[in-house]
Amino acid sequence: MGRRYLVTGAAGFIGSTFVRRLLSQQPDALVWSLDRVDGVIGRMDNLAGIGSERHRLVRGDICDAGLVARLFADARPDVVVHFAAESHVDRSIDGPGAFVRSNVQGTFTLLEAARFAWHGDFAGRRFHQVSTDEVFGDRGSDDNVADEGTAFAPRSPYAATKAAADHMVRAWHQTWGLPVSLTFGCNNLGPRQHPEKLVPLVILRALAGQTLPIYGDGLAMRRWLHVDDHADAILAVLAHDRTVGHAYGVGPTEGTTNLTLVQRICAVLDARRPAGAPHAALIRHVADRPGHDRCYHTSAAALQDAVGWRPRIALDDALARTVDWYLDHPAWVSRVTSNDAWKAWMARWYGDRG
Ligand code: TYD
Repeated sequence: MGRRYLVTGAAGFIGSTFVRRLLSQQPDALVWSLDRVDGVIGRMDNLAGIGSERHRLVRGDICDAGLVARLFADARPDVVVHFAAESHVDRSIDGPGAFVRSNVQGTFTLLEAARFAWHGDFAGRRFHQVSTDEVFGDRGSDDNVADEGTAFAPRSPYAATKAAADHMVRAWHQTWGLPVSLTFGCNNLGPRQHPEKLVPLVILRALAGQTLPIYGDGLAMRRWLHVDDHADAILAVLAHDRTVGHAYGVGPTEGTTNLTLVQRICAVLDARRPAGAPHAALIRHVADRPGHDRCYHTSAAALQDAVGWRPRIALDDALARTVDWYLDHPAWVSRVTSNDAWKAWMARWYGDRG
C-alpha cells in the first residue's frame, strides 16, 4: 500500500504543483488536500484536471483545530506536507495580522494534531515544513551563503512568521521526537503563480501595455527556481529516512537582480509578441518596499549531498515556459485578475507607490 499524504495549501501555486507531481510520480499514493480555497490565492482552478480517485480536497482552515483533528482521523496521514501560508511580503507589510494567524497559529495547530494523532508512533511518519530562504534575512551580497546551521534573522513580517513556525517545528522534533524535515525554498516561478508576485505581474502588465514597477534601483537580488524543481526537491527529501530532523536550502547557485530578471522576461515577450516590443520600455522605478531585503542566498549543497537533488530547469527555460503558460491560459488569467478584492489591493498598493 502507498503512503498517505496530507497536503496543506494544496490549492495554491506551489502546493497544487506538488500534488500534481506527487500523484503522477507515486501511483499508489493517497493524497488528502486541505485548503481554505479563499478564491484569491487558493483557487479551485489550480487543482483543475487532477481528477484522480487518489486525491480528495477538504475545504477548511488550518487554524480550525477541530477540523484538523477530524481530518487526521479520517485521512490517517503518514506524511504531512505543510505549504499553507500567507506568503506575499508586500501584503505582510500592509497587514501582518493574517500572517501571524495562518503562519504561526496554523502551524501550531497542525503540529499538535500530528503529535496527538501519531501518539509517539513515528515509524514511517513525517511532518514536512515548507519554508523560505527569507528566514535568514538579508545576506547583503551574493557570496554570503546561509545553510541549515545559520541563525534566523528575518526582517519582514512574512519572514518573521515563517521563522517562528520553523522554530516550533524544530522544537516539536527536539521535545517530542516528531519526525520533521524543513526546506528553505528560494523564489519560485511557473504556472498558476498569483499575479501579485513579480514574475506573473510583469508578464501580465507587459502584455497589457502597462508600466512595470521595479522597487527602488532594481538591484535587489533573488534566486529563482521553476516550481517543478521545488516540488521535486521536497519529494526527494520525503523519499529518504535520513532527512528526518534536517533542514535544507532549495535553489540554484546564482542570483539575478530584479532589473535583469524583468529585462529577461521582456526579451521573451518581445519574441512571442513582437508588436509590443520593446517591452522593457515599460519599466519604471517606483518607491522601494519598506525594509526591502537586498539579497537572499541559501545553499542547496546539503540537499544535493543528502538526496542528489539539483535544479533541472535553467532560468531562461523556466522564464520561457512560464510566459508561454500565461499566454496559453487567458481564461485562468481573467478569472484571477477580475477578483474585486485583489483589484482593490493592487490599486491601493501600487497607487501609493506612484
Ligand atoms: P516577490 O515576487 O514579491 O518575492 P519576494 O519579495 O518574496 O522575494 O518580489 C521579488 C522581488 O521583486 C523583490 O525583491 C521585490 C521585487 N518587486 C518589484 O521590484 N516590484 C514589484 O511590483 C514586486 C511585486 C516585487
